[in-house]
Amino acid sequence: MDKLVIRGNRHLTGKVSISGAKNAVLPIMAATLLTDGVSHIKRVPRLRDTKTMIRLLDIIGAATDLNDDILTIDTTTVNNPEAPYDLVKTMRASFYVLGPLVAKFGTARVSQPGGCAWGPRPIDLHLKGLEKLGAEVTLAGGYITAKADRLQGNKINFEISSVGATGNIVMAAVLAEGETVIENAAREPEIVQLCQFLNLMGAEINGVGTDVLTINGVEELSPRDIAVIPDRIEAGTFMIAGAMLGDITVCDIIPEHLLAVIDRLEETGAGISQGDDWIRVKQLEPIKPVDVTTAVYPGFPTDLQAQWVALMGLSDGTAVVTDTIYNDRFSHIPELSRLGAKIKLENNVAVIYGRDELQGAPVMSTDIRASASLILAGLAAQGVTEVSRIYHIDRGYEQIEEKFRQLGAVIDRRSE
Ligand code: UD1
Repeated sequence: MDKLVIRGNRHLTGKVSISGAKNAVLPIMAATLLTDGVSHIKRVPRLRDTKTMIRLLDIIGAATDLNDDILTIDTTTVNNPEAPYDLVKTMRASFYVLGPLVAKFGTARVSQPGGCAWGPRPIDLHLKGLEKLGAEVTLAGGYITAKADRLQGNKINFEISSVGATGNIVMAAVLAEGETVIENAAREPEIVQLCQFLNLMGAEINGVGTDVLTINGVEELSPRDIAVIPDRIEAGTFMIAGAMLGDITVCDIIPEHLLAVIDRLEETGAGISQGDDWIRVKQLEPIKPVDVTTAVYPGFPTDLQAQWVALMGLSDGTAVVTDTIYNDRFSHIPELSRLGAKIKLENNVAVIYGRDELQGAPVMSTDIRASASLILAGLAAQGVTEVSRIYHIDRGYEQIEEKFRQLGAVIDRRSE
């Protein structure tokens, strides 16, 4: 198992290029299963999760080839509409193949994902949505089987806005007979790009980017090529690093996807400037405490909550961070405390009492974003911080230590 060894308290400066978005590429890869033929996806980040999805597509029978950052997927040989437990347990987003497989092949068998480091993470909305489209859904032996001769359009109102359920149901509905209306649909940029990709393939989805999607089912879709949008969470992580540690310009991004983060960072007193595809964030002391409550897009993302807690650990006051999307997503807090951060957690509310400095210590990463938070805190801390179990970070950040090193960080990967 690898760990990261960080010698902290360095001033970081420079430019960092942001990779393609993990949460956009995964559903796009699943969407290619709706077609017969060859699709090319550009700007694919080299992550454990994209590799897991490639393995899953291979098991399903597609032929895949990743060359630099271009992924070629040929779906003409797909013959096994099944996602096994071994893969789904390592990556919940494997569940994205359920909708496309049942829509295209009339049957799909996908392992139930189970819980994760930050709570139960249900899939009821995905299953109810498929049932609404006429699929017969059964659960046995830890697997979900969905069957339908042809899905039928219907009206679906999600009681909670869900990125995954919206993506899955949209992918199912594009080949259904008749009209599907999804109310309270997710509006995250990754879902917008999925819908744009599907429309490029011949789907008829209206209302893209709003919370009501109207989908007229079509008979078939054709393979198309697409370039993945930049990862707004990776960008946000480096922007928070800029506010904490120096002067960082994140490049090759879509600033519009980061408005909530820009606003909150400005409130901390950080110096911010931006262009068409870049944002520069400069640390200006003191870091003012700023409360954050996570919300669905365009609100402050839950995927940046842990990193914000790390930033607030160094503010000159008290900040309150509330996660309304995942109540239990706070596994970084006991680890940040090991670095000297002073945080009180009650239910889904963290109260952070800012300190002048943090002290390096061995810590353990527990999920992708918690790991990012520990790396930020380690980079700011005095002395040496060792972050173990970094396979989590490799799921969602491409070459994170390399990117930080280019900004002047002293950070090395070692085998434990
Ligand atoms: C996606 C992202 C993840 C991000 C999350 C919220 C991917 C691969 N992952 O996860 O990084 O943190 O969005 O922005 O894109 N819920 C239900 N029933 C369901 C589905 C969800 O109750 O069937 C609830 C969840 O418990 C949560 C809320 O809905 O409270 C939002 O979850 P959701 O948007 O579905 O998250 P994911 O798609 O799993």
